[in-house]
Amino acid sequence: MAGEPVSRQVSEHEVAITVGEREFRIAAECPHRKGRLVHAQVNPRTLRLTCPLHKSVFDLATGCRVAGPVSGDLPVTEVAPGDGARGGGQG
Ligand code: FES
Repeated sequence: MAGEPVSRQVSEHEVAITVGEREFRIAAECPHRKGRLVHAQVNPRTLRLTCPLHKSVFDLATGCRVAGPVSGDLPVTEVAPGDGARGGGQG
């Protein structure tokens, strides 16, 4: 097992999510009603991310909306493992 996904706030506008050896950067706020995605639930097998506010679901690898009330996609960037840790800090 790769372990549980880890979410951390890297800046006011960005959240990093680490799943196994992959790291994704997403917007800190859900495009629906600004749910705080640092508290999102991430399924490590399906890479589906669920917003804590109204349960919109996004594909973490593509940012595409999968389900829920949101109408748009989520901006996602995949970064090399550890690449973004330099600017991270303990926040
Ligand atoms: S704020 Fe994310 S689904 Fe509503």
